[in-house]
Amino acid sequence: MKLIREEIAAMEDSPILDVWRMGFSVPDVIGLWAGEPDIPTPPFICDAAIAALRAGHTFYTHNRGIPELRAAIRRYILRLYGQDISDDRIAVTNAGMNAVQIICQALLGAGSKAVAITPSWPNIMRAMTISGAEVVEVALRRSDTGWSLDLDAVAAACGPRVKVLYLASPANPTGWAITRSEAQAILELTRARGIALISDEVYHRIVYDRAVAFSFLELAGPGDALFVVNSFSKSWAMTGWRLGWFIYPEGFTQTAEKLIQFNTSGGQAFLQHGAVAALDEGEAFVAEFVERCRVGRAIVARRLAAMDRVREVASNGSFYSMFEVDGVSDTVAFCKDVVVAARVGLAPGRAFGKGAERLIRLCYAKSPANLETAMDRLEAYLAGQSAPLQRQRDPVGAK
Ligand SMILES: Cc1ncc(COP(=O)(O)O)c(C=O)c1O
Repeated sequence: MKLIREEIAAMEDSPILDVWRMGFSVPDVIGLWAGEPDIPTPPFICDAAIAALRAGHTFYTHNRGIPELRAAIRRYILRLYGQDISDDRIAVTNAGMNAVQIICQALLGAGSKAVAITPSWPNIMRAMTISGAEVVEVALRRSDTGWSLDLDAVAAACGPRVKVLYLASPANPTGWAITRSEAQAILELTRARGIALISDEVYHRIVYDRAVAFSFLELAGPGDALFVVNSFSKSWAMTGWRLGWFIYPEGFTQTAEKLIQFNTSGGQAFLQHGAVAALDEGEAFVAEFVERCRVGRAIVARRLAAMDRVREVASNGSFYSMFEVDGVSDTVAFCKDVVVAARVGLAPGRAFGKGAERLIRLCYAKSPANLETAMDRLEAYLAGQSAPLQRQRDPVGAK
């Protein structure tokens, strides 16, 4: 249709969804493509939401979320990071993605640029494009020991029209996690250049060498142009609830109120009561869930290491494994073939922008049995495919 904005019409659909759609018709497929656990939300969270629903919390509610949930977020951040964030800097949103959209709507527009540290979850970059901005991708460096931030490249990308710098730590898909000194350098860069920083911390609990990932909230003050995005989706197995929150600088409260009003008019009150339980009573669940991810991570690492043509990239957090397959350069075609031929759903690296073109992502927040079966299938697929691939391999794709 001609009336659709040019940049929207030209926008590529998510390659992850392309593969996912193919997988719908494949019986018995093991889907490791999406970033979510395969366990339902724990009962103590569901019960709190059901009780609120039964108690009649079915009306429009506060744009920035019910006061009980904002208070619970405040307590949670104080407990985790020792930072007391005032209530007027907290807004509940319809998932982390909605927080990103609201921030982009407030800060970006035609003629502006946004820098994104990649590989990155594509939806974030699309939200920037939808807001009218041009996205500049700065890739993490990759080595045998994992991913690292190229601070000089980030500084070079933050030119005159840049309004926003986005990074996720721990990141999707790489699992890269920022260090305190890198965060200090990034914060100083954004201060010096007058740029807003979006720190996406939705995987803050999914770390394997500490209780919680470093947060920019530990460094920045209320006057810093810092937006910290978080979500109930990952740490509490609540992807389908579509609930998240963000912390913003002082002076942004009215803008948050306005944009939430004109986007969703606030979230669902009864679901937010469930989220209060997640924050106040969820520590045992989070610990159990991270242990489950640790087991999944080890299974995948062991199995991929035993596959001839596969090399995994090391990571520190989130619940994804990234790997490359010798001879595979078109990851979309590869993942489409794997889903049909091997009944394993993987996410093609091309979806995640610069730095991930030849990589493949899988989510290991799944049951050990499913992961073992998925690895059996992938191994058999690659073994069966080896001979023809060796012959067909193009010079660009060759390692
Ligand atoms: C890095 C990152 N940010 C934000 C989100 C948004 O999560 P949700 O919208 O489910 O809260 C995701 C989901 O996969 C993600 O990976």
